[in-house]
Amino acid sequence: MDANVRSTRGDEYILDTPRLREFIEAVEDVRHRVADPHAVITAIRPHFARLLADQSWLPHRYQEIAEESGMGRGIGTWLLYRAGDGGLAFSSLVVPPGAETPVHDHLAWGLVGLYRGEQEEDVFIRRDDGSRDGRADLDLAERKTLKPGDFYELLPENDIHRVRTISNVTSVSLHLLGNDNGCIWRHRFHPDEHRVEPFRSGYVNVECAR
Ligand SMILES: [Fe+2]
Repeated sequence: MDANVRSTRGDEYILDTPRLREFIEAVEDVRHRVADPHAVITAIRPHFARLLADQSWLPHRYQEIAEESGMGRGIGTWLLYRAGDGGLAFSSLVVPPGAETPVHDHLAWGLVGLYRGEQEEDVFIRRDDGSRDGRADLDLAERKTLKPGDFYELLPENDIHRVRTISNVTSVSLHLLGNDNGCIWRHRFHPDEHRVEPFRSGYVNVECAR
């Protein structure tokens, strides 16, 4: 557990720096003024782009792989901030060279950007209606390559994906989600087997039980 957690209204700044506070305060202001997820993302994009371009603020420890993690394969999700109401979380995802995440969803709006290294993202579309327990039919819809500074949106209609590191250095991406994405129960998919199962990724540095 991280000792350096300061709370206001239950909000947790695991990384507590003026730069991160400036970003989070701008995002929280948008989130509390705007209801529509598309509009929230549009308003946050310029703030996110500036943070992504700034290589000075993210300490090395949050760019390190984790031996034991919910994502597996040394992939670490480091929580940097989360809101006390469960409506916002900001984390770094660290993926070693050649490793890939499971295919997963997020169940919220989000912005994901590449901070270091290079990643490939596979986006899937779900074809079935979800009515059969444990069954999911996914088609690969798109494959994208991401370089530092590139970012993409997560919305209910493109919520299922997998990322892998294609650079020979560990990749670090920044994940801003409209829920506590490390701690909620979401879904992991096995496209070749047409299967879906409950999934909680967790965070490397913070426990979920609250
Ligand atoms: Fe993801």
